[in-house]
Formats: sequence, structure tokens, C-alpha cells
Amino acid sequence: MSNSAPRNILVTSALPYANGDIHLGHLLEYIQTDIWVRFQKSRGHHCYYVCADDAHGTAIMLRAEQEGITPEALIERVSNAHQVDFATFGVGFDNYHSTHSDENRYFSELIYTRLRDQGHIATRDIEQMFDPVKGLFLADRFIKGTCPKCHSDDQYGDNCEKCGATYTPAELIDPVSAISGATPEVRSSTHYFFKLPEFSAFLEAWINDGHVQPQIRNKLMEWFESGFNEWDISRDAPYFGFEIPDAPGKYFYVWLDAPIGYLASFKNLCEREGIDFDSFWEKESSAEVYHFIGKDIVYFHALFWPAMLHGAGMRTPTAVNCHGFLTVDGAKMSKSRGTFIKAATYAEHLNPEYLRYYFAAKLSAGVDDLDLNLEDFAARVNADLVGKVVNIASRCAGFIKKLGGCRLSARCAEPELVERFIQAGDDIARDFEAREFGRAMRKIMELADDANTYIADQAPWALAKEEGREQQVLEICSVGINLFRQLMVYLAPVVPAMAFEAQRFLKLDTLDWASRVTVLTDHEIEKFKPLMTRIERDRVNAMIEASKEDLVEEQKLKETPKGPLADEPIAAEIGFDDFAKVDLRIARIAKAQYVEGADKLLQLTLDLGGETRNVFSGIRSAYSPEALEGRLTVMVANLAPRKMRFGLSEGMVLAAGDDEGIYLMSPDSGAKPGQRVM
Ligand code: MSP
Ligand code: ZN
Repeated sequence: MSNSAPRNILVTSALPYANGDIHLGHLLEYIQTDIWVRFQKSRGHHCYYVCADDAHGTAIMLRAEQEGITPEALIERVSNAHQVDFATFGVGFDNYHSTHSDENRYFSELIYTRLRDQGHIATRDIEQMFDPVKGLFLADRFIKGTCPKCHSDDQYGDNCEKCGATYTPAELIDPVSAISGATPEVRSSTHYFFKLPEFSAFLEAWINDGHVQPQIRNKLMEWFESGFNEWDISRDAPYFGFEIPDAPGKYFYVWLDAPIGYLASFKNLCEREGIDFDSFWEKESSAEVYHFIGKDIVYFHALFWPAMLHGAGMRTPTAVNCHGFLTVDGAKMSKSRGTFIKAATYAEHLNPEYLRYYFAAKLSAGVDDLDLNLEDFAARVNADLVGKVVNIASRCAGFIKKLGGCRLSARCAEPELVERFIQAGDDIARDFEAREFGRAMRKIMELADDANTYIADQAPWALAKEEGREQQVLEICSVGINLFRQLMVYLAPVVPAMAFEAQRFLKLDTLDWASRVTVLTDHEIEKFKPLMTRIERDRVNAMIEASKEDLVEEQKLKETPKGPLADEPIAAEIGFDDFAKVDLRIARIAKAQYVEGADKLLQLTLDLGGETRNVFSGIRSAYSPEALEGRLTVMVANLAPRKMRFGLSEGMVLAAGDDEGIYLMSPDSGAKPGQRVM
């Protein structure tokens, strides 16, 4: 098996959106993919693993606007954070790129123009809700209103959370834009469509040709029966994305250029490392291409994407490998229960390799959801990795040091046992290859049990007390170390950091799959250091508590926009009457103090010439409390009180601000507290 020619393999994980943090649900996918890639590399194949941030679309545009920064600044910041998280969890991409890149623009235009020139693109005018204040067409989820069926208010665009009715946004009673609050208008505009129905026959054959899992095939065949629509691939300006060639003001919909990001990231890698891109993507390529994805994005990867590639004269993926969703303690991840756990929060409390092992132990090639049961998680990792695997090395290493001066015996005392462990690697490799990681872990742990049984039966610690048994003890423990080495070869794709430490301990150049066939005799090892410690339940609890605090932080961000000003950087035009509704007053800052647990806020006691107000203001980064006390400023006195986590805020003070600084307004000398500002 291992002397067959190396395969050329390109592997991807879905591109995470550039407007949110990586959480444990994401990690299920990236860890699954990374284990498979590390396994392929261990087997000596030419395997490349690429990914990127998915940087385009309305959500990212609006998020940047809300933070008062450019989309480019937002996606740069988020990309850096994502890459830190992935590195922390040992996810070893060969390249991490962005869909907002030159390569992606190039391939998006290339594929689009090829499709267009082959007649696969249609244009048609469609009517859509338009926000006249923001000057923006509104996707359904950006429209709110009263449900036409049960009359619950505050329901989103296309379905009612209360009664479950589905409808079009036009049917909502009193619809408003969720972005500006304005009443949307219906407007018409030209859209570009990918003619998916033209690919029905191609797709049906493709889906039935083993490129997707059986459960996914069945799901897709249901979709086939209901027939396909043409796919709307354009969005109107303003949009953060790529403009469509020869279509000014029209942009590629984010999901058009997102999968093309796989090509872009790989191209970027090829240019850097001299890999032949075309040999992977030309029509008759013999290279293998695998996409790992979650079950929510099958439609895009198993229908649109192969159709687009086929229509553009390129090869299609070898397989789309789909996984289920992560639940925590049997339920959807929940912010309030503290089970919506960010990667960074987890890593502050627990070793990332615990999670990698646990996921591996529970993963199969199927699409079922996977539960992270926190009780089981701790028990499993402690029993398997610490109790079984590390235990073998720690029971044997001391004797090797004492009796062999850190050198293993010159003869292998149990060649058959060691050989059985080596042989088991072929079977375990088949499980890894088939993404049956849980099955592989079970086999590895059965071997670990066998190794522990061998050591327990031989009881070197008892023999060591007898006269003249040193050589025998050394040989037994040398067998133990050899068995441990086999296990670490098999576990290395799952727990690479632990494997790295084990490799150092074993003084080996590699733990690659093929290297396992040479038995270690008369071989020097290092002094043993514990390779992994037990999971303590209070660390798990601390992580849950910290996740609850993450939620509080997020809410605070929403309550306190970055500058001290309002949420909406671009305000709508108002009449004088509206302006006159704002009661602006001179206020004296009678008292200013820090707010515990809020790193952006100061609590101000404002004197309005008799009356006092309590106001929380996001100006802490610019002012110390002492610098403020006694100062005059301007406040909005008739702002409805707002309940914040720290108390009631009764108004707001006026300040100018941006990324660079915050500047509190103050009146000219002579103004008096309580005076009206006009
Ligand atoms: N940007 C798109 C993918 C574009 S691919 C060309 C996207 N991004 S995502 O950030 O929402 O999700 C990235 C991947 O993480 C997806 O494959 C998604 O299925 C997966 N997961 C997100 N939450 C998940 C769980 N709770 N459980 C398992 N996987 C999950 O979709
Ligand atoms: Zn309803």
C-alpha cells in the first residue's frame, strides 16, 4: 500500500465568513479536514490544504459601516483573528487567502465570461424591496414587519417565528427596513441569472456517480424532483464584492465568488511554491479535489459549483465531503447557556488537542450531527489519551533511563506483538482514508489496551525488585516504548502537538506512516516528560462561564457603539420639526467614575442646574474621571432612558469621535448648567 505512487490531492474546507469569530461548530469542520490532510501527508502523498476568508456581501458591508471602518479594514482584522484561532487548534493550512483578492477577481471574471459566452447567463428585471434611506435593495432578512397571518409584530422578511407562516416580504403588514427603519419601496432592477436548469442532466449523472455521500445523494434527488430555478448571481450597488464585467453597478453575489475562492487560494499557493495549477484543474486532471463542508451549504457545493465548473470547461470535484452540525450537551449551541463557545475562549481554558481527539473519536463519514457532551468529553480524553496512551510511555520510560541509560534494548523481546501493531496500521489507514475516524480511534485504543495488558502482565516494577532481572525489565519496557511509538504514528494526524512532543521523546526524525516498520532497538530516547495532562472539570466549567461573559461583551458592544455617537454613521435627512424634538442642554459633570466590568464606559453624574442625571458614556478611552469632573458639556436631555447592564442611562453627552479619538463638546465660557442649546 505504502509503495504505491504518491497521489496529488487538493483539499478545502468551507471559507468562513469574515464577520464573525470562529467557534467550536466551525472547528468540527476544520479539524475533520485537517486530520484527513495530515493523514494523507503522513502517507507520503502530495496533499495541499487551502482555505480563505469569505469576505464579500451585504452583511460584511453593513458590519464595517456599523463599526465605522472600511470593509477592507474589517476583513483584514477578522482574517488575522481567524488565522490565529486555526493555528491554535493545529489546523495546518498550506495557504490561507481571501475572496477579496486579485486571484479571485480573475477567476470569477473568467468563469463568468465563459458561462456567459456559452449562453448560460440570462438577464431579467425583478422587483425587490428597496430601502430609500440607505439607497439599498433589501434581502428578505433585512426586512421586518407584522406577520400577515397571526399578526405578530417584528417578524423577519420571509417567515414568522411565532406561527411558522412563510410569505414574501411584500405580504408583511407595515414592513420596515431592519437597517434604517424606513418603509421600503418596491423597485425594479435588472438581475443576472445562471441557467442552472440547463445542467440538470449533467448534475443528475454527477450526483449518481459517487461524488457525494448516499444521504446527500438522496436529499439532492428530492430537490431534482421539484426542479431547479435559475440562480440569481447579481446584486445591485452598493455591495462589497466584484463588479460584473460589462455590467456597471452590478456585483457578483457573494455565493458566486465564494467557491471560486478555493481556486484563488490554490492559485496563490501555486505561484508561491511553483506547483502546476492547471494539472489540478484542467478537464482531464488526474489530481483529486475534495471539498469538506457542513450540511447547510450542500446546495452550493453539489449543484451550483459543479455546474459552474463544468459550464466553464473545468474539472469538477472528486468528492464533496459533508458533515453534520455540532451540538453541545445535546442541544444547539446557545449563547445564554454558555455553550456557544468561541475557539479563543476554549483555548484560554483547555488544550486544543483534547477537542481534536474528541471530535476524531466521534466522527464518521456520515452527515449525522455530532454532540460535544462535556461530561463524556472529559471522561473520554482522560481515559483514552492520558489513561491509556501516555500511561504506556510513563510506565516504561523510567526503567529505560535507569537500566539502559536511556537506550532501548538491543533485541526486541516480542517481535510478534510489535509486528501485530505495525500490521494494524493498514486497517487503521483504511479508516482514516474513508473518514471513519471514530472507527480508527477505537482500533487504536484497543491496541493501547493490549499494550497496557502486556505491561501489566509482565509487571516490570515487580521484576525490578528481583536480583539479576535488569535485562529482562529493560526488554519489556523497550517493547512498551515500541508499542507506544506505533500508537503515536496512528494518532499523529489527530493530536499533532502531542505527537511532536512524542517524536522528541523518542528521538525520531519522523512519525510518518511508513517509518513505523523499523522496530526501535538499541535506540536512544529522551528523559520522559508528561505528554498530556488530565482534563479538570473546573476548567470546563470556567470555559462555560467565560462563554456567558462573551455574550455580555457582545451586548455591550451593541449598546456602546465605537464612537460616542449614534449607531448609524449615515443619518437620514430630517426636517426642522424633527430636529426641534431633541432637547439639548448644557450640563455640568458633577461626578465621573469608572464602571466595573466595562472597559469603554464612564459613569457620569450630570448637573442640569438643579436636576441630576445618571449617564453612561463610551468615552473612557479618551478621558480620566478626574479630567472631567467640573467640566461643562452638552447633553441630550430627553433621550428615553436606556437600561444597560450597569444601570439606567438617562440621556447622552455629545462628543465627536472616530477611530482616532473622542472629543467631548463644551460650550463657550459663560454658559450655565440647564441652559437650552439651540
Ligand atoms: N462562507 C460560507 C461558506 C462559503 S464556502 C465557498 C459559510 N461560512 S460559515 O462561516 O457560516 O461556515 C463555515 C463552515 O462551518 C460551513 O461549512 C458550515 O457548515 C460550518 N459550520 C458552521 N457552524 C457549524 C456547526 N455548528 N457545526 C458544524 N459545522 C458548522 O457558510
Ligand atoms: Zn405569524
